Amino acid sequence: MTDLKTTAAALRALLPRAHAPYSGVHVACAVETADGATHMGVNVENAAYPQGWCAETSAIGAAVTAGATQFARVYVASSLPGHIWPCGGCRQKIFELAAPGCEVVSLAPDGAAERRTIEELLPLGFRLDPAQVRGR
Ligand code: THU
Repeated sequence: MTDLKTTAAALRALLPRAHAPYSGVHVACAVETADGATHMGVNVENAAYPQGWCAETSAIGAAVTAGATQFARVYVASSLPGHIWPCGGCRQKIFELAAPGCEVVSLAPDGAAERRTIEELLPLGFRLDPAQVRGR
């Protein structure tokens, strides 16, 4: 596991890079794999509002691009007071790539950490067996 204080500081340092001129809510996310590698991302809003995406989506894209498909932990920090948790769509994206026991760690501005497993955040998440879908 990466050092929590180091990860929290890295995410806080990343918050100004969020492109969030519409909501003003800056979010940063780190996806961690079993070997301790981390992949970061921020939210990217757009004038055509639905085209924007979450920090988790950015971090998941970076992780998958680097070859990671088994997430051990997902950290989230934001410019809002208190703890935030991934939106429903991002919970589903994390669920797809979660290693067994994968947890989401929400980091408040004061560094306080709250943890939930992805199954706690998304009970009965949707799974597809590609072999079944293709009838093979
Ligand atoms: N947002 C994230 O990036 N991650 C979350 O977990 C919740 C919300 C972003 C989306 C939007 O750019 C802004 O926060 C306000 O909703």
